[in-house]
Amino acid sequence: MNISKFIFVAIILIITSSVFGQTVRWYSDDQVNQGQQLFKHKCAKCHGVNAEGEPDWRETDDKGEYPPPPLNGQAYARQHTLDQLRQQIQVGSNIVDGEMPSFKNKLSATDIDAVIAFFQSKWTEAIYKSWQTRQLLSATNHLKVSEEPKQHLGTYWLKQHLSGAKVTPGEPMKTPVKGIREVKVNDDYLYLSEDGRYAFTGHMIDLSVGSDLTVINQALETKKLLQRYSSKDMLVYPAQGKEKTQLTIFTDTSCSYCRKMHKEVPQLQSEGVTVQFIPYPRRGLNGKGYAELNSIWCSEDPEQALSTYIEEMVLPDITGTCKKAGAVDAGYLLGNSLGISGTPFLVLQNGERIKGYKKASNVISKINTPLEGM
Ligand code: HEC
Repeated sequence: MNISKFIFVAIILIITSSVFGQTVRWYSDDQVNQGQQLFKHKCAKCHGVNAEGEPDWRETDDKGEYPPPPLNGQAYARQHTLDQLRQQIQVGSNIVDGEMPSFKNKLSATDIDAVIAFFQSKWTEAIYKSWQTRQLLSATNHLKVSEEPKQHLGTYWLKQHLSGAKVTPGEPMKTPVKGIREVKVNDDYLYLSEDGRYAFTGHMIDLSVGSDLTVINQALETKKLLQRYSSKDMLVYPAQGKEKTQLTIFTDTSCSYCRKMHKEVPQLQSEGVTVQFIPYPRRGLNGKGYAELNSIWCSEDPEQALSTYIEEMVLPDITGTCKKAGAVDAGYLLGNSLGISGTPFLVLQNGERIKGYKKASNVISKINTPLEGM
């Protein structure tokens, strides 16, 4: 085992901090400067050059509409989370002839963050701090109750720092270490202090037995999540002779390494492995993979259709009703909740994950060396 794995706490990440008295803001000076230019051209005619808004912003005008409010911290903007602000700018007023235009196709996500940075730079320390506390509170609430996805500052921070991280919402799991909880980021784990303020990356090892609790937890969680997928919706290639184990593969036929992986199936079967496929359209629900997977899964004999496609790249003709309707969508949702970032993605019977294409012989040797302490 890698020695670095024995170091439980690798880096301390401070989600939000008030080091040196001043609150650390989420944006950089560059973002403020960039935002200032954009604001001048796109927003200032209504919200004012310094985001001061119309003086009578509290009163509706002749048409019964509210004038542009200040965004400099004096009005309601500070009651919205970062994501709500982004949304307001993207979507604009929902009212048909409302005055706040939609910037969906006019500003990129980076631009929108920059304009927000600009007007937030007008917020006093006290206003910013209370905004941040509000966000942190919602972040900590979120740590205590599991409910539908909620974005919060911590998530935003993580996204910024852990490049494109997908933070899985829900209740962070308890760990054997008092006060330390575990949260899933992409398909990895992050450890959090009870208040959600400090985060640690790395693996938690039980030195008394030498087991990597992080990997074991992940495997158990994966195994549990896999049970949500109906076995009727999988395409199954049974083991030859007595079944030794099962291997689940998330596949997207539009990915060449997935097709390569399929070619390993006969060898796996001959070694006593039952291989079952779950469709995972890695580009989402309107990409090429989605269409392909649907026509395969919906065909009369999907196992045959899948094999034919791998060999000849010919998709089946669809006739009649789809017996596995919804299988691809369900596979996509499951894959996302597992934090899959690419295909193929393999899961052993004990829940252990293998990313990417592997030769049958490598998969077999992994199967033959179970996790320590599991
Ligand atoms: C044509 C005028 C106009 C322009 C241009 C405009 N806004 Fe607005 N904006 C409004 C009005 C009016 C409202 C309030 C009424 C509403 O929500 O419909 C508003 C509301 C908002 C809010 C919600 C504030 C709150 O207190 O809830 C935000 C945030 C916002 N604008 C940001 C921007 C940004 C950023 C830009 C430039 C990219 C921009 N607006 C450009 C008119 C405008």
